[in-house]
Amino acid sequence: MSRTFFITTAIDYTNAPPHIGHAYEKIAADAIARYHRLRGDDVFFLTGVDEHGVKIEKAAAAEGITPREFVDRITPQFVSTWEKLGVKYDRFIRTTDDFHEKAVAEVFKRLLDQGDIYKATYEGLYCAGCEEFKGERDLVEGKCPQHETAPQPFSEENYVLNVAKYKEAIRAHVAVNPGFIRPESRKNEILNLLETFPDVSVSRQKVTWGIQVPGDPGQSIYVWIDALLNYVTGIGYGWDEATFKKYWPADIHLVGKDITKFHCIIWPTILLALGITLPKQVYGHGWVNVGDQKMSKSLGNVVEPNALADTYGADAVRYYLLREITFGKDGSYTFDAFRKRVNADLANNLGNALNRTLGILDKNFAGIVPAEQAELSAELKELVAATRDKVEAHMAESELQEALEATWGLLDGVNKYIDTQAPWALAKAGDMEKLGAVLYAVLEALRHAVILVSPFVPTLAGKMWEQIGLDASLESQRWDDLTWGKLPQGTQTKRLGPVYPRIEDELAGAAKKQ
Ligand code: MSP
Repeated sequence: MSRTFFITTAIDYTNAPPHIGHAYEKIAADAIARYHRLRGDDVFFLTGVDEHGVKIEKAAAAEGITPREFVDRITPQFVSTWEKLGVKYDRFIRTTDDFHEKAVAEVFKRLLDQGDIYKATYEGLYCAGCEEFKGERDLVEGKCPQHETAPQPFSEENYVLNVAKYKEAIRAHVAVNPGFIRPESRKNEILNLLETFPDVSVSRQKVTWGIQVPGDPGQSIYVWIDALLNYVTGIGYGWDEATFKKYWPADIHLVGKDITKFHCIIWPTILLALGITLPKQVYGHGWVNVGDQKMSKSLGNVVEPNALADTYGADAVRYYLLREITFGKDGSYTFDAFRKRVNADLANNLGNALNRTLGILDKNFAGIVPAEQAELSAELKELVAATRDKVEAHMAESELQEALEATWGLLDGVNKYIDTQAPWALAKAGDMEKLGAVLYAVLEALRHAVILVSPFVPTLAGKMWEQIGLDASLESQRWDDLTWGKLPQGTQTKRLGPVYPRIEDELAGAAKKQ
């Protein structure tokens, strides 16, 4: 039986269309999910949208429509963007889905019945943008640094989650499971925060756009309680126990650094209270900035992923974000860096190696894969094995950038091998046997490279795979297909030209003006 692998992303607020920061997280999760499918794991990739709460209630009111009408307009934009970017999830959850709303209400009632939720007057400062209470230490000059607005004073008779009761258990879990909070740099931050983390209000009197507190129609359930539960309801908790049992606990909750604390403090509190095993890992990725500025509506620098993908292809967006940003750290997007990176790595390096090779193969062997000679394969055979092992080690640590670097190292090695062996000179000298063996080695190395890049740039990989001409589909390839010699002599290749065109200067100019 294959190993299960359950990966989730944060579910995005649907108060506005998706931006490149949302896309970054979904693309990273998709690449990890695809990598695990390649490994042969039984993968479940869950993503979706967070549709309730005051933030969305306000956005709808500003447009003079109901929250339901509002989310019905925005949510399809998330769905279509992920489709365009090749984000291949197994379920897309909306927190307004019936099965989810029902399960959340049941959990709330259970926590109330068993005393993990109690009633109290709750006072504090609330930032609607973050959907979160703020302490003085969270504010800069009295304002929320992320939303640049002053949080509103709040005082209500509320339902409150007893976080204090589970703090010791959370601390112990973190100590015994060193991989629970990743990257390492986030761990101390969370442990410090846990010390002073208060019990949390988990209901709202004045918010009507939410799931009603069972037995108390005057209150709705706090949006974060509602949202966090998507990770279990999304795989069947409360409505499909077999699937839930099969995939839980999650292998990775992939979320941004800003919301890691909700996942490492509030979420474990709920799970411990319910007697459910904690997820194996919460990974807090960094943020995508625009140049050296934070992306924000007020700065007017929000980068929208659809236009970029329409013009340059989904794989360019995917590649840039995963290659340019060290996973776990903040990174930046600029159009110039995007163009340079994509031209160098996708147009020149990846696309060219295959195109050059198939050109010579067409001319000299009618595009048919020739016989191998062990001594001429040795160098690349060793390089692909080393690359495969490096990728495996990096992916085990979610080091996506390093995995890509290693794979592009293989492409560099292939290009270098072509230059050293100089197949055009061999053709000119009429040394067909050696030429054939050199081309075999290059194509076999490229077959490996295509499989290794496929989780990251699936469309380009598919185009290259088609040109190599193997019968089996790229999707059917598994990790042990990364074994030297699986490219059969006699395979009819199909040269279709370069897989990725350079982004030329005129195009770049046009895109910049957008
Ligand atoms: N709805 C909550 C998450 C609930 S999960 C149970 C939320 N939504 S969000 O739309 O504000 O953010 C969704 C995800 O996108 C978060 O993981 C957040 O960190 C991430 N990002 C939002 N802006 C980002 C960047 N500029 N860069 C990278 N990721 C960013 O929080």
